[in-house]
Amino acid sequence: MSVSADTFRHALGHWASGVAIVTSAAGDRIHGMTVSAFSSVSLDPPLVLVCADKTSHTLVLIEESGVFAVNVLSHGQQALSNRFASKKDEDRRFEGLAWRRGATGAPLLPGVLGAIDCRVVAAHDAGDHVIYVGRVETAEVLAGEPLVYYASRYRALANGA
Ligand SMILES: Cc1cc2nc3c(=O)[nH]c(=O)nc-3n(C[C@H](O)[C@H](O)[C@H](O)COP(=O)(O)O)c2cc1C
Repeated sequence: MSVSADTFRHALGHWASGVAIVTSAAGDRIHGMTVSAFSSVSLDPPLVLVCADKTSHTLVLIEESGVFAVNVLSHGQQALSNRFASKKDEDRRFEGLAWRRGATGAPLLPGVLGAIDCRVVAAHDAGDHVIYVGRVETAEVLAGEPLVYYASRYRALANGA
């Protein structure tokens, strides 16, 4: 017997996470989406993972370029998270943003808490998602507080960092 989709969503929604925007670029084309499925994997070598829905357009660029950047959102960036999650105006997600390219060419966003630029070293098929393992080329951290996602709502840390 397998767990129902509702029970799965409800249970997994009680795992508190940060929020990030995963970006990628292939030539002049850039794209990105909001994710919570991001994790540290290994220190030596430095590896992280992100899970991308097989229907996501961001996946197409990651497949093509083999690179992605993880932009860790700060607590004031809820609107940016919603913009990169919404299917409405998805071609205008970067509009008005002073983004720059990281070492891999993937877009790094302004005002984020951290930016982790990666090259894909493995891709694992996992149900309706693909797990991308990326080797970290550069990582930067800026001052601030994280945006937190828990039980389908954005939150802030109660006591700060
Ligand atoms: C808080 C939050 C977390 C999300 N986490 C993920 C995730 O880990 N992986 C994923 O594929 N989609 C995730 N999504 C959904 C994508 O952001 C959404 O489907 C987006 O429109 C995909 O964009 P694209 O198809 O243009 O790449 C999340 C959305 C929200 C609001």
